[in-house]
Amino acid sequence: MFLLRTTATLFMLISTFSTHATSATEDSSVTPNKTEPSQGLEIFHFHCSRCHGRTAEGDGRFAIIYRRLHSSLPSNFTMGYFESRPAAYLKTIISDGGEANQRSKYMPPFGDALNSREIDLLVKIIQKTGADKKLPVMTDSR
Ligand code: HEC
Repeated sequence: MFLLRTTATLFMLISTFSTHATSATEDSSVTPNKTEPSQGLEIFHFHCSRCHGRTAEGDGRFAIIYRRLHSSLPSNFTMGYFESRPAAYLKTIISDGGEANQRSKYMPPFGDALNSREIDLLVKIIQKTGADKKLPVMTDSR
């Protein structure tokens, strides 16, 4: 029963999150005069850091729910091997989600919220993040 309720809460959180996320995408895609890395960081902090963590270490606010569900934790992108993960693989997971790629169904698909260019920016960020290259925390990180 507790597990059912927790699962329902998780779905609620995820759907609230994606509705909220859509409007931010529109904002971020029209932000002029920003360098690509800083645009990518903004998108990461808005859409991904709740699960993957503000510094990309997999310890976002939602990670605790996954721990309670005994489910795969959000990936820690600072492990040092993401540089060698092919861009096409990362792109398809971000766009189509975990379940469509034989990974956890709790990695949501973002293909309807982010355009191809925005996903490419995220792929670059993930590939560049490493043990000694954690993401800089932004003041509005979630
Ligand atoms: C609601 C939580 C949640 C959000 C939000 C989320 N993720 Fe994930 N993500 C996960 C979980 C859980 C996994 C682990 C999947 C697994 O191990 O099977 C994951 C896995 C991944 C992977 C696969 C990495 C690997 O280990 O090969 C990539 C890439 C990824 N996420 C990118 C992103 C990006 C980029 C965003 C933001 C656009 C994002 N995720 C937002 C929960 C989330």
